[in-house]
Amino acid sequence: MSPENVIRRAVCPGSFDPVTNGHLDIIGRAAQLYDEVTVAVFVNQAKSSLFSVDERRELLEEVTAQYGNVRIDSFEGLVVDYCKAHGIAVIVKGLRAVSDFDYELQMAQMNRGLAGVDTLFMPTNPEYSFLASSLVKEIAKWGGDVSSLVPPNVLKRLIDRTTGA
Ligand code: PNS
Repeated sequence: MSPENVIRRAVCPGSFDPVTNGHLDIIGRAAQLYDEVTVAVFVNQAKSSLFSVDERRELLEEVTAQYGNVRIDSFEGLVVDYCKAHGIAVIVKGLRAVSDFDYELQMAQMNRGLAGVDTLFMPTNPEYSFLASSLVKEIAKWGGDVSSLVPPNVLKRLIDRTTGA
């Protein structure tokens, strides 16, 4: 197949518990670089989560509906096995700060060594350099305002969940 016929696929893997504006920034930029972008929710039985995998997928479906080339999926196991099974050559990761770099570099080198899958690091928008799902959950739990950090559907779900509505 000639290079112009090759579909360039990338995956944005993560927990997305829940998706934040920082994630969305990376997903939107990846969607401009690749023909198809899969946002893959990692099913981690060992980690407790606020939202179920189905809820996280649903929220992601809603906030990425504007992108014709973004699909949502979930996976259990190694991200490189997911890539191999779906013909995906690249993992896209956002880097918020130097503190992210050590671990992300280690994973990127491991993933390339394991299966030849490369990782593209994208610097996050500085507006979101401090943003993490864990912080959003913590702030929402204590009634803090996270309306500038997450999309409206996530905000509503967070308020419902943390107030028990
Ligand atoms: O949003 P997170 O929790 O920071 O995402 C981490 C994630 C899911 C991207 C990472 O833990 C991952 O890729 N897990 C899949 C299992 C895997 O492939 N582990 C080996 C990495 S070298």
